[in-house]
Amino acid sequence: MKGVILAGGSGTRLRPLTTVVNKHLLPVGKFPMIHYSLEKLHSAGIREVMIVTGAQSIGLYAAYIGSGAERGMKVHYAVQDEAGGIAQALGLAESFIGDDEKFIVLLGDNLFEDSLDPFVKKYESQSSGAMVLLKEVEDPRRYGVAELDGGRITSIEEKPEHPKSNYSVTGIYMYDPEVFDIVRRIKPSARGELEITDVNNVYAEAGTLTYDVLEGWWTDAGTHESLREAADRLSKDDGENGK
Ligand code: DAU
Repeated sequence: MKGVILAGGSGTRLRPLTTVVNKHLLPVGKFPMIHYSLEKLHSAGIREVMIVTGAQSIGLYAAYIGSGAERGMKVHYAVQDEAGGIAQALGLAESFIGDDEKFIVLLGDNLFEDSLDPFVKKYESQSSGAMVLLKEVEDPRRYGVAELDGGRITSIEEKPEHPKSNYSVTGIYMYDPEVFDIVRRIKPSARGELEITDVNNVYAEAGTLTYDVLEGWWTDAGTHESLREAADRLSKDDGENGK
C-alpha cells in the first residue's frame, strides 16, 4: 500500500508559530512533526509516500526528508497552491496512487500511539469502500463526529454543536481509488473548502464506511495546547526511523 501525508493548510490556530514555518515542521519532542507520520507509515510496512504541502514550504520538506532513501522510503511531493481543504489536498495525489490500489491518508498534525499495522491489514482484506479510525474523546465538538450503527458509520458531522457520539474521526483514513471521483463530485462548504467529511459521508451513505478505534493516546496538534501535549508525550521518543 502507498501512503499520503497531508501537510498543507494555513495553521491559523498555531499563529504566530506558523507565520513563517509550516505547522508540520514545528518541533515536537526531538523531531519536526512530519517525522512521526513518516515513522508510523514506515512501521506499517509502507515504503512509498506522497507529501502534499504549500509552495512556501515544499523546499524545506525536501531539505529535511530528501528522496526518503535514508529512511528506506521513496518520498514524492505535491504542491497545494492554496489551502482549499483536506479533500482538495487529497485530490492532488491521484496520479501518484493510480487507479487500482488502496491507500492510506494521514493528516500530518495527527500524532498518536497505536501502530497502524493491524488497521492496514484489516483494510486490505475489506472488499470495497473506505475505513476511518476513531477515538473516544471528551470534547467531540472540536472534530468530525461519527454516528455508529453496528460495524458501520452511518454519518459524520463536522464539528457539531450537539454530537451524536463521543467518537471523533481521526485524521487516519483508508480509501480505494474511487475516492478521487468523489472528490471531484463534492462542492465547497460554507467556509469555501472541499471537506474530507463530505467525502467520507458519500461512503457512509453507500453503507461502505467501516471503522476501528484507536486504543492509545491520540492528539490533533493543531492548537498551542494540543501541540504542547503531543510534545510532552513524544519528548522521550528516540525515533525508530529518525534522522
Ligand atoms: O484531526 C482530525 C480532524 O481533522 C477531523 O476530526 C475533522 O473531521 C477534519 O475535518 C480535520 O479537522 P481540522 O479542523 O483539524 O482540520 P485542519 O484544517 O486543521 O487540517 C488538518 C490537516 O489537514 C492539517 O494538518 C493539514 C491538512 N490540510 C488542511 C487543509 C485545510 C491540507 O493539507 N490542506 C488544506 O487545505
